[in-house]
Amino acid sequence: MKVLSVVGARPQFVKLAPISRAAEAAGVEHVIVHTGQHYDPMLSDVFFTDLAIPAPTVHLGVGSGSHGVQTGAMLSALDGVLDEHDPDWVLVYGDTNSTLAAAVSAVKLHYPVAHLEAGLRSFNRRMPEEHNRVLTDHAADLCLAPTEVAMRHLASEGLASRSVLVGDVMTDVLMNVRDAVADQVPPTLAESDLTRGGYYLATIHRAENTDDPSRLRSIIESLAHLDRPVLIVAHPRLVAKAAEHGIELATGTLVPHRPLRYPELVSVALHSAGVVTDSGGLQKEAFLLGVPCTTVRTETEWVETVDLGWNVLAGRHAEIAEAVQRPAPERTAAQPYGDGRAAERVVEALGRASE
Ligand code: UD1
Repeated sequence: MKVLSVVGARPQFVKLAPISRAAEAAGVEHVIVHTGQHYDPMLSDVFFTDLAIPAPTVHLGVGSGSHGVQTGAMLSALDGVLDEHDPDWVLVYGDTNSTLAAAVSAVKLHYPVAHLEAGLRSFNRRMPEEHNRVLTDHAADLCLAPTEVAMRHLASEGLASRSVLVGDVMTDVLMNVRDAVADQVPPTLAESDLTRGGYYLATIHRAENTDDPSRLRSIIESLAHLDRPVLIVAHPRLVAKAAEHGIELATGTLVPHRPLRYPELVSVALHSAGVVTDSGGLQKEAFLLGVPCTTVRTETEWVETVDLGWNVLAGRHAEIAEAVQRPAPERTAAQPYGDGRAAERVVEALGRASE
């Protein structure tokens, strides 16, 4: 069996790591195509190095642009790549423009498409990620769902017969990395004058939070007035939008920091008093690490984190401080994101479906 994975943005490299390992263990031929959506070394190359992912076979070098320009450039480059490699499966990950472009290219050329992390929904039609998820699920031949809730969404959209529950591959990666960093104090703490348990970790990068100047300003002001220092690990979109809108990130309790390598991010989250984020991945990572999370959005795809009491939605800036400073929730033994062996199930499901 030959599987061609298409990735392009930071969270996809994390998901690719366990898939690449499971494919190798099962003797599956695996071609990696990097669209180039993320091109900064700290958003791309370091993930390949730190998570021991083989270098991409093909790099499209697409880079930034409006949604249409970026997605269109990927689409036109992918047709030739798929035909050249002629895979049994095109595997697409998550909800970015790279996901949608690869799904559309594959389905039109009649290559079977599998969508990893299928069935997630925010039901917010203004999010680019929501368009990408819905369109990709409906283009896919195989929907690989991370959770029971995702399976229910797929069933309610008529996709039950092509859906398989595999668990969450991010659990696979996180468990390995957490064990590797558990005994280390992250260098970022000394560098930023922070102590274990004495700070919050924040990340804000989604278009709905960064692109409107008044919304971004009020989020930054709320974070800058919390009761502990806030290590804000800044995605290039946040840095660019803050500069464009004349918003200072180094203000009040905020300690801005460049993007972190994945093991360092996990370590910094693990030692924090709480996480404040609009990232999908980090909400779940906080849950798996037993750290309270506040999500700066009005809805989340990872509803299990909220239902189990570990995540609070603070869509309005006035809600942020109270949510972040709340008491820690009760521990839970629930494992809504699987047992850390999702990638093996993905490779098995691809093998079964191609028989
Ligand atoms: C993308 C995904 C988002 C995911 C995020 C993870 C889409 C629609 N969004 O958002 O779901 O959570 O990746 O990081 O696909 N930039 C750089 N260097 C880079 C990459 C981006 O400077 O290596 C800057 C550019 O100014 C660019 C902006 O960030 O215009 C946005 O990048 P883009 O890839 O469009 O989306 P992200 O915000 O990264």
